[in-house]
Amino acid sequence: MTATREPSVHGSDALRLMGADIEVPLVSGERRRYVNLDYAASAPALQRVRDAVGDLLDWYSSVHRGAGFKSRASTAAYEGARESIRRFVNARPDDAVIITRNTTDSINLLAGTLPEGTHVVAFAGEHHANLLPWQRCGVRYIAVPETPAEALERLEATLRELPACPDPHLVAVTGASNVTGDIWPIAEMGRIAHDNGARLLVDAAQLAPHAPIDMQRDGIDFLAFSGHKLYAPYGAGALIGERDWLSAGDPFLRGGGAVKVVTIDETVWADLPDRQEAGSPNVVGAVALGVACDTLAEAGMDAIAAEEADLVAYARERLGEVDGFEHYRVWPSDHPRVGLLTFNLGAMPYDLLAAVLSAEHGIGIRHGCFCAHPLMMRLLRVDDAEARRLIDEARAGSHERLPGAARMSLGLGSTRAEVDALADALRAIAADGPQWTYAVNPATDQYEPDPDPRPLPSLPMRLVEHPHAHGESA
Ligand code: ALA
Repeated sequence: MTATREPSVHGSDALRLMGADIEVPLVSGERRRYVNLDYAASAPALQRVRDAVGDLLDWYSSVHRGAGFKSRASTAAYEGARESIRRFVNARPDDAVIITRNTTDSINLLAGTLPEGTHVVAFAGEHHANLLPWQRCGVRYIAVPETPAEALERLEATLRELPACPDPHLVAVTGASNVTGDIWPIAEMGRIAHDNGARLLVDAAQLAPHAPIDMQRDGIDFLAFSGHKLYAPYGAGALIGERDWLSAGDPFLRGGGAVKVVTIDETVWADLPDRQEAGSPNVVGAVALGVACDTLAEAGMDAIAAEEADLVAYARERLGEVDGFEHYRVWPSDHPRVGLLTFNLGAMPYDLLAAVLSAEHGIGIRHGCFCAHPLMMRLLRVDDAEARRLIDEARAGSHERLPGAARMSLGLGSTRAEVDALADALRAIAADGPQWTYAVNPATDQYEPDPDPRPLPSLPMRLVEHPHAHGESA
């Protein structure tokens, strides 16, 4: 056995999560404690975050826009959050900390402020958030490397082929893959980038909740991450980095708060961070993110990472024992990874597998292509001709089912017992198949229980049934 204990830091009171004991209905009519193995998509809120937001709401008012005492309090809370975020990733004292909506927003913001003629180098296996914004820039994509050493070699070779500085260069990499979980060699990439006159952006959406980040030590020039994966699902994320690029040219969004003075013909833009935070700031989201950063830092990101490494090793071992379990990975199995595993089970359609786990076992995972289509095509061995066909079908408006997989992901509060529950469920499904009837919903092309007798929870808000979540929604 790789691990012999339940995580203890993860289970501590300080890291208690909202909804941890929620029961969900099964199609059989029973109820079962929900097994949440979908942290990589969106993680539950920390209780402390919820409590802090509750306290803030009594003092909620406009930020940067009022002399009222509540405005002063809300503004102080907003600016305090900025400092908590800066400390969490050990940003430089003069780095800009911009509150955004999420990682996608952060990276699009940076892409919109790159100096004219910037050469971007990115890897083809990135999440779409760190892949698509560069398509509008001069970008070179490096094919998915087979090993971390190959990633470093190819990065260095690609940077050496670029036109000599002073043309600006940017290397855009993930901190940890949302498909394989592999943790990328950020410090080495920072060194190679800097030796070759480039700056380094790290997409830390999956890394920040699961491992320590040190921008100063690792030479990270820009860093992006999301609150909804960091136990603070209140609509805020962050972009942190060097001021010169972020303050050049027009802001990413134009509007109130981002200006010093405006006439009908002319605008003088504000300094950072206001320049990049047009519109009324999301003080609730920022405070939630700041409190999550402080709470995780207090618990110790090293301890959190060590426990998750144990747990994901345990999961690999347990799930690997199930007949037909196929784990998708690129880098060697002993390479450090955050707590997620992407897999298929024999020939079972991935969306049927996810539907059965939910409907019959009360287990929540994500399925589909995880907003990383090029990497998934490679992992699923989809050849160029088939990829071409899928593109043509999509352009023609047809509802073509994409190939895909299932993904389990861990976080605070995850336990070996939950991994065991998934392993047991997969084993039962592999042996006996689904125990309910399922059909493909033509609206989504996804398998769903048919019929689905599970009632939605009773909540004090209007609930409108939506076709079952499509595996491709971000
Ligand atoms: N990109 C997020 C994921 O991997 C939503 O699930």
